[in-house]
Amino acid sequence: MCGIVGYIGDKKATPILINGLKKLEYRGYDSAGVAIFNHDDLKVVKCKGRLAALEDKMRNETLEGVLGIGHTRWATHGEPNDVNSHPHISHSGKIAVVHNGIIENYMRLKDFLESKGYEFKSETDTEVVAHLVDYNYNGDLLQAVITSLNDLEGSYALGVICKDMPEQFVAARKDSPLIVGLGKGENFIASDIPAILEHTRDIYILEDKEIVVLTKDEVKVFDIYGVEVKKEIFRVNWDVTAAEKSGYEHFMMKEMMEEPKVLRDTINPRIKDGKILLDNIKITAEDLNKIDKIYIIGCGTAYHAGVVGKYTIEKLARIPVEIDIASEFRYREPMVNERNLVIIISQSGETLDTLVALKESKKRGARILSIVNVVGSSIARESHDVLYTWAGPEIAVASTKAYNTQLAAIYLVAFELAYKKGNLSEEAYFKAIEELKNIPSGVESVLANKEEIQKFAAQHYNAKSIFFIGRGLDYALSMEGSLKLKEISYVHSEAYAGGELKHGTIALIEEGTLVICPMTQDYLLDKMISNIKEVKARGAIVMAITQEKNKEVGKVADVVVSIPDIDSKIAPIVAVTPLQLFAYYMAIQKGCDVDKPRNLAKSVTVE
Ligand code: AGP
Repeated sequence: MCGIVGYIGDKKATPILINGLKKLEYRGYDSAGVAIFNHDDLKVVKCKGRLAALEDKMRNETLEGVLGIGHTRWATHGEPNDVNSHPHISHSGKIAVVHNGIIENYMRLKDFLESKGYEFKSETDTEVVAHLVDYNYNGDLLQAVITSLNDLEGSYALGVICKDMPEQFVAARKDSPLIVGLGKGENFIASDIPAILEHTRDIYILEDKEIVVLTKDEVKVFDIYGVEVKKEIFRVNWDVTAAEKSGYEHFMMKEMMEEPKVLRDTINPRIKDGKILLDNIKITAEDLNKIDKIYIIGCGTAYHAGVVGKYTIEKLARIPVEIDIASEFRYREPMVNERNLVIIISQSGETLDTLVALKESKKRGARILSIVNVVGSSIARESHDVLYTWAGPEIAVASTKAYNTQLAAIYLVAFELAYKKGNLSEEAYFKAIEELKNIPSGVESVLANKEEIQKFAAQHYNAKSIFFIGRGLDYALSMEGSLKLKEISYVHSEAYAGGELKHGTIALIEEGTLVICPMTQDYLLDKMISNIKEVKARGAIVMAITQEKNKEVGKVADVVVSIPDIDSKIAPIVAVTPLQLFAYYMAIQKGCDVDKPRNLAKSVTVE
């Protein structure tokens, strides 16, 4: 959600900014722009649309400077158009600003600045930052930024350049991600690592309310009081190819094909001598006795992984689990306390609602365990314990491999809690671990048969509305299958618990309605078969996803996608892959932009 890149060095800034912004396209955006220090002047070029439109517009411009900031905007305040695009330039033409986040008190600041004679051109909250820094500027850009930040409420990652200062620029962050790339004779800022990875692997991860001054040879970080802060260099250990398509047409397909590998990376190092080892997380039986409730919190796909967590932890460890959507949790005055464990799930580790829910829980004394993919992200840094999913960079907006690894991490936690609590016998514990180790090859065999799902999608891509029904863990899977389909193919779909259909929704089933049924839970198989019969009786076409052994499913469903005979309790990690493939092929058939679906951002860093 919004992408920022900034550069200072000896090379031309424009191509570096544009290439960097291309690497951030996955975050979602609807307009783009750059501000370049060009022949003693600040030159701003920006427009609505994709980066290609910006490049077209730039063809008529001479942009030669070696200092610049670039931005891709995902509209919040004001429609996507040329004027609302970033960078915004101050009234005097002296200050240019790019911003990710939301300035919540911008109306008040706008009134104040207007009373001082500042004229506003855009509908954005960001424009106040440009004018405010201009208002506070007295020959010292760092000081002007610090003074301005003290007046800002909300979230921001900012890049600021000043016409008087061709040899430095300033950046800052609060509740929106921003990193600093440390080069030789050149330095960078960016919203995420892929934007600068071809130039450097050494980065600073900025903390909230840190401000950084960059020259081509030096980077200095300050706190909000202007006191210099010593930062540790974080060395990125994955390479550019991990964030490239590597011959695949789409990142989403590449990322699904990586699922077996990243599952091995997430599971295998956590199993030592047949037992689970949760990195440095020490949860003793004594700790567990003090925990009377677990909350699991996330958004979107991460929330759906949490639903699997609720069912599994309650069933195996016999600890009550509440599952919450982060944006609901934070405003419902949750009754979290020091006897609770809060499990936060997030791929990016930067989702604002999830981060705020975490802080809210921490304030109330709960122990925070996060399951996060991005190393060093805000959620990881705020948590007491972190269990990283080793899914590698996930670029496609639709989360796939991250979800499979989130489930793997949840199972590791659930088995460990159940064993420590004495609710899982040693024999059952060892067996569960062995089964988990076989999961990656199960996913491999699903991926090897992806063409059958492609064929099914080719026959049904014109469907107007699709239902996903399941029971137990398959209900959680249905929610994820439905979300995936909606977000990339724009086909309306709904997920229902199998038993809930007849309480209303079955009225919508008619001749030709497509119904997708994950059915991996042995103890609920007969119930699901009855549900299939109910919808078939009303004309539905049914695709079921189930273990090979469940031959009876073929007698009721129109199409059966088989997965290997995996134990019901962990089957969702494998059974989600056909649902992801289905969404992918539907989107391809419909000609949708699979990796960058409309209106969506990869990392949702605003409310
Ligand atoms: C997944 O396909 C979605 N794009 C979205 O629901 C996502 O899972 C959600 O925004 C949470 O993101 P996070 O895991 O980075 O916190």
